[in-house]
Amino acid sequence: MNAQVSGLRDDDRRPPVNELLEVAQHGLALKPKRLPSWMFYDERGSDLFDLICEQPEYYLTRCEIALMAQHAESIADVLGSDVRLVEYGSGNARKTRMLLRHLHAPVAYVPVEISPEPLRQSVERLSREFPQLPMQPLCADFSKPLRFPISPRAPRRTVLYFPGSTIGNFESREAAVLLRKMRNEMGDAGGILIGVDLKKDPSVIEAAYNDAAGVTAEFTLNMLTRLNREIGSNFDVSAFAHRAHYNPMAGRIETHIVSRRAQQVKIGRASVAFRDDEAIQVEYSCKYSMEDFAALSAKAGLAVLRVWTDPEQMFSVQYLVRASTVAR
Ligand code: AVI
Repeated sequence: MNAQVSGLRDDDRRPPVNELLEVAQHGLALKPKRLPSWMFYDERGSDLFDLICEQPEYYLTRCEIALMAQHAESIADVLGSDVRLVEYGSGNARKTRMLLRHLHAPVAYVPVEISPEPLRQSVERLSREFPQLPMQPLCADFSKPLRFPISPRAPRRTVLYFPGSTIGNFESREAAVLLRKMRNEMGDAGGILIGVDLKKDPSVIEAAYNDAAGVTAEFTLNMLTRLNREIGSNFDVSAFAHRAHYNPMAGRIETHIVSRRAQQVKIGRASVAFRDDEAIQVEYSCKYSMEDFAALSAKAGLAVLRVWTDPEQMFSVQYLVRASTVAR
């Protein structure tokens, strides 16, 4: 049987150019200056992120893949049969494949991705490996409410798969809002399988965001190259630097783009002034203890049913269900 690939939905919500300009102007008028981390991910940014995942210091991907290699079978047993698997993002084919290989009679795979091309490519690749599995790609922004395509048969449960510690890129209040939205989307019997990076020696965390090869620095500064190309700004990229520090009080990496000198940058018709050493905040990567994440889940009306982790507790894969369904 051929792979069942339904058409991509025509609701790609990548910001049009004037919206990108507006967001950039707004963020650079804030005090302190701030730009959203989704601006990293043009084509070059996505390629650089893939390269980051291969850097020796970036333990997150390695640890999560090792966890999946070891536990995918038991994870599949916990999820049960006839699952509809919805993945938030579609760039994680390796981990997804490990899971799909062990799922019992899955009903459909629904990757949700904002960029149509990576979505199409990942569906094409997975379809070759899982020709029997209906693929229902959804081109949409997963942080907004989603309407899933109608399944080819009724699933016993919808499981939202959110690997890669992407939840860490949301500040804790926003993370609770996103988890609550996911809770609504998965329904009463559903669950959330999520990759969560754990608190550890700050020097290990800082190294992961300051790799020796400079890939993360290039990834961060690519945001400026993207803005120059897409909105016609005139950032001199060599006059800015990448800075990523772990804030132990907040439990997160805080990434900034820092001006190496006093300078003016043209953003649309406006000119934006930078002081020497002035920073634009561009990303948070939050790290959790087990207790922190259980508390965050509880705020969203969820309970942690199972946790898979490594002996050093570097990373975790957690399964969340509605708190009301767990016997106390
Ligand atoms: C996608 N996200 C989980 C990455 C992280 O670790 O916060 C993005 C990243 N930024 C710099 N390195 C990786």
